[in-house]
Amino acid sequence: MSEDHALVFGASGLIGWAVVDQLLAPYPTPGTFASVTAVTNRPIDLAEAHWSEPEGGRPDLRLVSGVDLRGETGALADTLKQQVPNADKITHVYYFVFTSVDHDLEEEVAVNKKMLENVIDAISHLSQNLKFVMFPGGTRGYGIYIPGGTFSAPLTEDMVNNLPGEYAKTVAYPQFRRVLADACKGKSWTWCEICPDAIIGFTPNGSQFSLALHWAQYLSLFAYDHGIGQTQHRQGEAAAVEVPFPGVRAGYESLCSPVSASNIARFAIYAGQNPERCGDGRLFNIADSDTPSKMRDLWPHLAAWFGLVGTGPEARSEADLLPSEYVERHQSAFGEHGLDKAIKGGVGAGRKQLDSVGSWLTFDRQLSLAKMGEAGFAERRDPVTGWLEAFDMFRKAGLIL
Ligand SMILES: NC(=O)c1ccc[n+]([C@@H]2O[C@H](COP(=O)([O-])OP(=O)(O)OC[C@H]3O[C@@H](n4cnc5c(N)ncnc54)[C@H](OP(=O)(O)O)[C@@H]3O)[C@@H](O)[C@H]2O)c1
Repeated sequence: MSEDHALVFGASGLIGWAVVDQLLAPYPTPGTFASVTAVTNRPIDLAEAHWSEPEGGRPDLRLVSGVDLRGETGALADTLKQQVPNADKITHVYYFVFTSVDHDLEEEVAVNKKMLENVIDAISHLSQNLKFVMFPGGTRGYGIYIPGGTFSAPLTEDMVNNLPGEYAKTVAYPQFRRVLADACKGKSWTWCEICPDAIIGFTPNGSQFSLALHWAQYLSLFAYDHGIGQTQHRQGEAAAVEVPFPGVRAGYESLCSPVSASNIARFAIYAGQNPERCGDGRLFNIADSDTPSKMRDLWPHLAAWFGLVGTGPEARSEADLLPSEYVERHQSAFGEHGLDKAIKGGVGAGRKQLDSVGSWLTFDRQLSLAKMGEAGFAERRDPVTGWLEAFDMFRKAGLIL
């Protein structure tokens, strides 16, 4: 039996939650990990985390909440030593923490770099058994925050080296790479980075940049406000109510590569089990499908789950509320149905940015998955599936009507 111990930071977040869920599944096989420690910043109750509870064969799970990584390094090592059983056996660190800093992107880079440094420093004091560290970058690292994009798609991993200098200063990922490349010198562990575009998944208590939660709350309230209840959509009794895509035609038609959080999680775990193919600081694009998606193909399926008819953006008028404005105006309906959690646990810092996804991301930004394929990871999914699974979980967790 393996004694491997996975430590997941950001376990309440979009990727971190899914990695814990897959480790418990247990992916890839029973016995790969003996134990999993899920670390969160905001307190979370295990019963409300909604992680899988398969019978037998699952690794031991420990939840350590209330760990703010912005503290002093020594304090973090002490906290982990006190609260994490078998801390000396930590073999894999999955680092999925990110915090936004409003209006100061260089400060955002500095804060996030410091948190990763704290973690690596603390773990190096705690465990001599570390084998692998994984963190997520993202298409922000390909310059998609520059209007019109920076590189011609398909985006390939080598492009991150050519980011315009001023823009690169506003992105944390190059700094993360430097921290890990320096820290692993002369050590027995190695590391890897994954690069997703939009991540589609579940979180139990909100998320800073969850497009699935953002649109799920919008569509849920839109359907409710138009008289469509859950029973009606199950029975197909509702009258056709159209919901136009919140964006513009170019945003509806542009090519992109969304990924379900469960697929990222499986690749993250796969990479940690295959350090010779995936380590040495390699970067891998990740998506659900080699074939790029368009919102035009996804939106009608998302709307249909809520009993709505998803149409193109042309029917929207200037007066129509953006998704976050709509949620803010109508969210009392959540409260009326006892779903206070849906109000507290919505999308955080990223809501304005997510409002603009359909009007800002008007250029092709699909990812090449060739490198991930060469590393031997062959799992692909229909891109709609992850959305619908996330919606099911949001409803189960009381985050939508
Ligand atoms: N969301 C996307 O679609 C997307 C797409 C591409 C790339 N990415 C990248 O993926 C990474 C993770 O993003 P995500 O979407 O998973 O974000 P997320 O759902 O908001 O999760 C972020 C996690 O970081 C934790 N965290 C924040 N501040 C912390 C602190 N001071 N101490 C300890 N933990 C802290 C949060 O914990 P609490 O909630 O408990 O504070 C949360 O678990 C980021 O680098 C992001 O740029 C995201």
